[in-house]
Amino acid sequence: MEKILIVKGNILFTKTLDKLTVYKDSYIVVKDSIVEAIYKVLPQKYMNYQIKDYKEKLIIPSFVDLHLHAAQFLQCGMGMTKQLLDWLNDYTFDLEKEFKNEEFAKEVYTKFADKLIASGTLRACIFASSSTAGTEILFEILKAKGIGAYIGKVNMDSNAPDFILESTEDSIDGTRYLIEKYKDEPLVKPIITPRFAPTSTNKLLKELGSLAKEYALPVQSHLNENLDEIRWVQELFPNAENYLDVYNDNSLFGQTPTILAHGVYLSDDETEIIKRNNVILVHCPDSNINVRSGIMPLRKYLNLGLKIGLGSDIAGGHKIALNEAMVRAIQLSKLLSLSNPEYTPLTVSEVFYLATKGGGEFFGKVGSFEEGYFFDALVIEDDSLTADRYSLEDRLERFIYIGDDRNIIARYVEGNKIT
Ligand code: GUN
Ligand code: FE
Repeated sequence: MEKILIVKGNILFTKTLDKLTVYKDSYIVVKDSIVEAIYKVLPQKYMNYQIKDYKEKLIIPSFVDLHLHAAQFLQCGMGMTKQLLDWLNDYTFDLEKEFKNEEFAKEVYTKFADKLIASGTLRACIFASSSTAGTEILFEILKAKGIGAYIGKVNMDSNAPDFILESTEDSIDGTRYLIEKYKDEPLVKPIITPRFAPTSTNKLLKELGSLAKEYALPVQSHLNENLDEIRWVQELFPNAENYLDVYNDNSLFGQTPTILAHGVYLSDDETEIIKRNNVILVHCPDSNINVRSGIMPLRKYLNLGLKIGLGSDIAGGHKIALNEAMVRAIQLSKLLSLSNPEYTPLTVSEVFYLATKGGGEFFGKVGSFEEGYFFDALVIEDDSLTADRYSLEDRLERFIYIGDDRNIIARYVEGNKIT
């Protein structure tokens, strides 16, 4: 028997970057977890089904965070006077090493998952830590919560304190163990996760590339985030033409689906290869500001036709809620447009697209309410005083700018109400 879900309310989503699609007082019919259609008037054949009527509330696709670090959850808002490499050394590695302790991992990852879900992110690409046991705990917690995620055990075997490194062999063995255990999961799946080029030996990268190919698994890492980092990569890998070559030479650059966070500084040659290899870049504006990495020329990349998603990148970013990243992306684009008039500022529709359908593409048909998409949704209750006064577009903008988890009153993943 088909399972039918019918929800009613004010529906907003984006089919393309430039335009919000809006249905006032309409019905979404969901068949077996997938959007069948949106109706202004419900067809007769559905009249006998129960309708979940959210009245004047907004129904929007849930958020997709393409880059964040679960093991840095407790670090949000700390060390924000440092730049990237010092911040990693002085704060991050010390905290991430604690995730060997399974009790600690369970406690922190549960808090992380609860806040992520409360904030409306129901699909995410997540870095755990280098601990295999700790990463396994994160898989179990997210599986139980019912959201969609790619989770990576963080592979690192050089150029960081010993307490956080593993031998190449242990790093690969632990990764293979998690792949074997979780590769057939429907919602929470493994992803190959070298931390970034500098903390990897060539041998590790090569073996990770082989694993990605062997199991047809996606890859995530960091790329061209910060000037000191880029210089360090040049020193460590003198034979590589540039940073991305370190990944490309090891089958970690689009040979399977690949997402790379940042890409703040990229030459025209580099953007060309990114486009050719179908690599997705993740814009993480709060992180780029906080650890003083720089401003990604997002408008330029969009004009070039690169695939882009949004990331909170906690704890480089200080807030896990993705609507914060949307706002900051707009704000940074305005600052950039002052010194570069050709880079027009981003619009609400554009950042909403990036946070839903743009990032959602990595998960399949996710991030929109077009026919055939998974019904992943949030129901938003905004201030009842404003509901009558403003257009639906204005109410969405207002939620993105000043709303938070208290405004989200229902969350659906693949048609199932999870909270
Ligand atoms: N590059 C390598 N590791 C990290 C990390 O944990 N956060 C950020 N923002 N960049 C990194
Ligand atoms: Fe990151």
